[in-house]
Amino acid sequence: MSVDLTNDRPLDWDSAALDADTKEMLNNLQPNILRAHVRDHLCVLFVRFNDIPEGRRFLRTVAVTWMKSTRRHLEEVREFARSGRRGAPYVGIGLSKAGYRDLGHSVEQVRRFGDAAFRDGMKRRAAALGDPAVAAWEPCYQRELHAVVLIGDARREPVEALREEILDTLPDSARVLGEERGQGMRNPAGDGIEHFGYVDGRSQPLFLADEVAREPREHWNPAFPLGSVLVADPLAPDPRRHYGSYFVYRKLEQDVRTFKEIEQELADDLGLTGRDRERAGAMLVGRFKDGTPLTAKGAPGGGPVSNDFTFGGDDGTKCPFAGHIRKTNPRSSGREVLMARRGQTYGDRADLPWDDAPPHIRPSGGVGLLFMAFNSSVTGQFEFTQISWANQPDFEIPATGHDPVIGQGRRDLKVTYPKLWNKPEMSLPRRQVPETVTMKGGEYFFMPSLAYLRAL
Ligand code: HEM
Repeated sequence: MSVDLTNDRPLDWDSAALDADTKEMLNNLQPNILRAHVRDHLCVLFVRFNDIPEGRRFLRTVAVTWMKSTRRHLEEVREFARSGRRGAPYVGIGLSKAGYRDLGHSVEQVRRFGDAAFRDGMKRRAAALGDPAVAAWEPCYQRELHAVVLIGDARREPVEALREEILDTLPDSARVLGEERGQGMRNPAGDGIEHFGYVDGRSQPLFLADEVAREPREHWNPAFPLGSVLVADPLAPDPRRHYGSYFVYRKLEQDVRTFKEIEQELADDLGLTGRDRERAGAMLVGRFKDGTPLTAKGAPGGGPVSNDFTFGGDDGTKCPFAGHIRKTNPRSSGREVLMARRGQTYGDRADLPWDDAPPHIRPSGGVGLLFMAFNSSVTGQFEFTQISWANQPDFEIPATGHDPVIGQGRRDLKVTYPKLWNKPEMSLPRRQVPETVTMKGGEYFFMPSLAYLRAL
């Protein structure tokens, strides 16, 4: 037997009826994959090893000393809900293909990773992804990264303390090639937002029965099979019971000032007035700033952020086909493409991202998204989303344009926008909005099972 990855009945993780293999999977799976771990404060370390035994010993020590399992994480979440007692910080480890190789795994062993994109590494995929040339990436990402270590918590102090301890354990032969700091941002309603000011992280594939049960699901089923994010860990002691996940990491800088200018120009061009001006940005993102889906309502506001919708019956006169959330999840076919996004915003700013302040006070660089996502297939999920959807002006309807937020490549095609919400009158064709998100570097990693790390 092994764990059933195809069943889309959500996992009742605490049920006494759970089979032994699934229990073993949960006891050996890193947290933050099946359910997001709090990581409002996040430290991301990129490490390179230069000595096989020392590198292995470091990873084993981190795993044994500080890493919890998915099961432990879920128990902590339940405990926090009951008593308010906080759990331990999150520690996650991912290894790149080069990392596995330089930790002494043979070519034959590395080939057991089924994903071609992971085996290539992100640098070799840059051209296909439409990314800037590797020579233009930030220096740290131009190097060969072996491992990523994530340290996250709701508060800053535990992250700082643990970072020190983990760095103290790092052998002299290893190097920290780079470090990023993520810092969550929230709007006044308490919802997590990204730097353009929009609620982010709302739509996710859900795997656990308690999470699914909390969601209204009349139109959209948020329950996904474990196979959307899990694969057998090919180098674990028992790959039938020990699982891991491919982890995509990309540093995406956001030019907030230009994005805010674009929102205003688009609203002016379409003659939008009053509160309807907010529809300009919503047509680019697919949701209003407060998270209200544009396909469901022509104006923001009203209750918790909905995720119970599809684009059925919306011919692009409510939400344009190119709108970021429609491109990246058309909610018709392609369910199997959806990843578990676990990104975090980076960069400090003095202004308030959600307010109506003029564009010139907004940052034009130095802030953005540390995009992170778990996949069971980098090729079939992240790369498919970026290449075949976001960068593709003819998806899902011909000549509708690139994803205005993350689409890469020449945006030659002209596009139209609905002048009014849910009315057939379209604008004259106008140039697509310019790119405001710039990829600064990244890598594909595999987050192995704890059983693998402990056995190193
Ligand atoms: C700086 C870059 C990015 C920004 C500012 C951004 C912003 C957002 C926002 C505001 C949402 C709506 C919140 C939600 O529905 O959860 C969203 C959703 C989403 N984004 Fe992004 N995003 C970025 C990068 C990416 C990338 C690189 C991908 C994948 C290639 C991606 C894929 C998605 C997906 C799949 C959704 C959920 C769509 C749904 O299920 O409705 N995003 N993003």
